[in-house]
Amino acid sequence: MNGCAYVDGEFVAPEDAKISIFDWGFLHSDATYDVAHVWQGKFFRLGDHLDRFEASCTALRLDPGVGRERMREVMHECVRRAGLRDAYVELLCTRGRPAPGSRDPRTCTNRFMAFAIPFVWIADPDKQKRGINLIVGTPQRIPPGSVDPRIKNYHWLDFVMGLFEAYERGGETVVLTDGAGHVAEGPGFNVFAVFGRAIVTPSSGVLEGVTRRTMIELAEREGFDMQVRELGVDELRRADEVFLSSTGGGAIAVTQLDGVAIGSRATGVVGPVTQRMQDAYWALHEDSRYTEAVRYG
Ligand SMILES: Cc1ncc(COP(=O)(O)O)c(C=O)c1O
Repeated sequence: MNGCAYVDGEFVAPEDAKISIFDWGFLHSDATYDVAHVWQGKFFRLGDHLDRFEASCTALRLDPGVGRERMREVMHECVRRAGLRDAYVELLCTRGRPAPGSRDPRTCTNRFMAFAIPFVWIADPDKQKRGINLIVGTPQRIPPGSVDPRIKNYHWLDFVMGLFEAYERGGETVVLTDGAGHVAEGPGFNVFAVFGRAIVTPSSGVLEGVTRRTMIELAEREGFDMQVRELGVDELRRADEVFLSSTGGGAIAVTQLDGVAIGSRATGVVGPVTQRMQDAYWALHEDSRYTEAVRYG
């Protein structure tokens, strides 16, 4: 695999990036992470990803043991060593291993890691041209009272079971609900619904995606009536357009929900608002206020 990782203070090839099976990150999903992307040689909103990663570590009482500037340097260096122009760049902090014979998390030595690999899409550009078929999955998203979704986490069994269901039902990805008829989020993305000039995204039970924030800012700038509130699944079915937001692709068009065409367009035709958000999102990648050139040296 092409890429570069940073483990135990060293830069290594992806196949040499390993952790102990006794690390609670592996045994208990006891970890946090963040993912930024590099597009055409530039990080996008890197400061926002670092902010969120630091906040997640603090909330989970994890100490990555490295400061913000070192994290930034490590990310640049992973991309530089991998020689990637378009990259998926992840930071991780795991709980680590407890003292021998102990189950006390306070005895764990937390571990910081990072890696850069080629860009990973939620839906590749070909699929994005015709939009995807989103399935409303059966599993309930893990409740915010159990695991705070604003902390980026690996509690993904609900999503993974939902993905199996989506593929069996002919879909391309899955969205989960809060179990009471409201849209939550999906594996790696937030959800937006368009109703005329209004754009709605769920207010709670979700990760506050960096792309979600970008879409909210863009929608306001473009004069849409941006609403951050509860979004019913029934409402989603009546939307004119639906799109997903993710670091893995920006605004990703959804043209079918459970196999039924969204809005009044023919199946596979991306709606005008989604197209506008997509174009505006990628245009921001040319704006120096949002980008940071990779230090290729
Ligand atoms: C559960 C979940 N929701 C939403 C998102 C989108 O967040 P961002 O826009 O920061 O990529 C992600 C990203 O991985 C995610 O894992």
